[in-house]
Amino acid sequence: MSQSIKINFTINGKRTELTIPPYMLLIDLIREELGLKGTKPGCLEGECGACTVLVNGEAVNSCLYLAINVDGKEVITVEGLPVTPEGEIDPVQEALIQHGAVQCGFCTPGMVMSIKSFVAQCNKDNIIPSPDEIKKAIEGNLCRCTGYVKIVEAVESLF
Ligand code: FES
Ligand code: FES
Repeated sequence: MSQSIKINFTINGKRTELTIPPYMLLIDLIREELGLKGTKPGCLEGECGACTVLVNGEAVNSCLYLAINVDGKEVITVEGLPVTPEGEIDPVQEALIQHGAVQCGFCTPGMVMSIKSFVAQCNKDNIIPSPDEIKKAIEGNLCRCTGYVKIVEAVESLF
């Protein structure tokens, strides 16, 4: 039997210490250990992007990411996106709603986190992305409902 390992990390701004099996996946840590069910299990094979979260600002598939690798890092799930005291939600979420880019919503938490990472990188590099660059950025996030057009329009509206 493998020995459990203690990890320290920040999730959604909260310092957290847990002792976990070395083989635990990040999606299981998030959903089962911490009860944050916004991160969705889809294919569990790295193909659909429904499980996407941010680790140190980078979008990762939490179904393929060993939880011990968040030791010392910052994790943000969809629950960690800020809401202002006035009730304003994250601009990415707002843009998706405004453009009618959410239907069943199963893909949406992962889509939001991928877009967050992409927008942050574009802003850092001072780039206004083309529709093709936006499509490339979200190609790892499968959406069976929207046909992507409205999602791409929503992302364009953020620049
Ligand atoms: S559930 Fe992780 S990529 Fe599909
Ligand atoms: S809104 Fe249903 S899968 Fe994307």
